Amino acid sequence: MRWGSVLSLGGAALVVLLQGQLVLSDIPIEVTSTDSLKSAGKAIAAPMWTFYEQNQTEGIPGKLTGTWYVAGAMFMTLIQYWQVSGDNQYNSVVSHDLMFQAGRNYDYFDSNYSQWLGNDDQMFWGLAAITASETGFPEVSGKPTWTSLARAVATMQINRWNTEQCDGGITWQIHPWQAGYTLRNSISNGGLFLLSARLGRFTTNQTYFEWAEQIWDWSADTPLIQAEKNWYVADSTSGDNNCIDSGDMQWSYNYGVYLAGSAVMYNATGDQKWLNRTTGLMGRLLQHFFPQEYGGNIFSEVACEKLHTCDRNMLNFKGWTSMWLAMTASMVAETRDAILPKLQGSAVAIGKQCDGETENLCGSRWYQDTWDGIKGLEVQMCALGGITSNLMMLSSTSAKTIRTNPNGREQFLDTYSDDTPDALPAISTGDRVGSWILTILWGAGIVAAAWWLIKQK
Ligand SMILES: *[C@@H]1O[C@H](CO)[C@@H](O)[C@H](O)[C@H]1NC(C)=O
Ligand SMILES: *[C@@H]1O[C@H](CO)[C@@H](O)[C@H](O)[C@H]1NC(C)=O
Ligand SMILES: *[C@@H]1O[C@H](CO)[C@@H](O)[C@H](O)[C@H]1NC(C)=O
Ligand SMILES: *[C@@H]1O[C@H](CO)[C@@H](O)[C@H](O)[C@H]1NC(C)=O
Ligand SMILES: *[C@@H]1O[C@H](CO)[C@@H](O)[C@H](O)[C@H]1NC(C)=O
Repeated sequence: MRWGSVLSLGGAALVVLLQGQLVLSDIPIEVTSTDSLKSAGKAIAAPMWTFYEQNQTEGIPGKLTGTWYVAGAMFMTLIQYWQVSGDNQYNSVVSHDLMFQAGRNYDYFDSNYSQWLGNDDQMFWGLAAITASETGFPEVSGKPTWTSLARAVATMQINRWNTEQCDGGITWQIHPWQAGYTLRNSISNGGLFLLSARLGRFTTNQTYFEWAEQIWDWSADTPLIQAEKNWYVADSTSGDNNCIDSGDMQWSYNYGVYLAGSAVMYNATGDQKWLNRTTGLMGRLLQHFFPQEYGGNIFSEVACEKLHTCDRNMLNFKGWTSMWLAMTASMVAETRDAILPKLQGSAVAIGKQCDGETENLCGSRWYQDTWDGIKGLEVQMCALGGITSNLMMLSSTSAKTIRTNPNGREQFLDTYSDDTPDALPAISTGDRVGSWILTILWGAGIVAAAWWLIKQK
């Protein structure tokens, strides 16, 4: 046997390197083959699930140590994955834990967490719930429908519309005592825009479309969306300054939510202005986050990936945004040809990046041919999102991909109590989506960023 020859061990090909290290081989991905994508999805989901099981806090279903919303985003990803792959091995736990975290008032605002949540944290659970509705994820008997949970989140958030500054918008943080309260950010507003648009399409209730219009119009009147500057999307704007300035970090998910929401609005209304917005945002997203440096067809979270400064939030953005790109393609046929090669190029790249350690661990830099050493639930989820987006592209010709349910029973519970914390437990700042580091970056710039990097070592 020669050095470098390939052994086959229990189906997994292991390469013996000169140093004697064992490296698991790439996941071979054939982007036009549903079977190939399905087995890649399976291989990537398995370690993600192990991380999930190991990282739950004190066994509380759906509560991960150090974060609350990430599990919600993982359920969103897994439900979308289940629909296009048929892999239902996680469904019963996903169903239970997604319902469990809806909390005592079925609104994803349980008082265990509500004192320190941002709007974006709660929003992700709302997106998981509407994804369950759209995909026909089985309802839980004796519990509210997934749609009613999504509606509860949207209603609660639209009630937080805040005209004290900036003539509107929702703030990043929910409570005035939180750092970052006065910031208005794109993921909170854009996420609610996407949730509203999808609720409108799913229920055909016009109220949600009106909310979506309102959120878009407000966002486009602030520096958050700058259509005149080639569809630039800023990360945040400051309420204290009446929303005339902007925090300019470029994150793919900010583009993703406004893009997918616009596509849904175009699909539902046929209004040309939404087509314009869809193609405009898509153009910038595809140009900025698929750098020519890596051939132009591999997704990269360019602001942090190269220097390995992505935090546990940022590590996810590409995965969610890949699925929102696939959703855009299925909603607006005109975008499909532009999106397809980007998602396909990324899937092949994911197959190479996911060759870490002994169980196909994925890393963060899809453009790199071998694992980059970053491991965890977030990078697995991100890769699973990338694979799932390709399965969505292959099945998007089937009309059932994204369902609507205008006549469905809407067992809407409006028993929630908004913004009335009954206790003030210790605030755990590390748990939020945007985490305070974004505020620091936004406010103090690169000096603070450097400090953070040193601190993380
Ligand atoms: C809230 O915290 C209590 C005590 O840790 C726990 O038993 C319960 O499951 C938690 N509820 C949620 C929704 O996380
Ligand atoms: C539409 O949604 C709004 C907001 O949730 C609700 O108040 C209204 O009752 C709904 N209308 C119908 C016809 O269901
Ligand atoms: C599309 O949007 C751009 C940028 O706002 C604008 O200049 C252009 O006139 C719009 N085109 C149409 C057809 O609405
Ligand atoms: C709206 O979405 C459906 C489902 O994906 C699709 O069949 C239809 O062609 C879309 N409509 C437009 C105008 O693109
Ligand atoms: C949680 O997940 C990380 C990977 O993101 C892992 O390194 C760590 O050991 C896990 N923590 C626990 C308590 O299991």
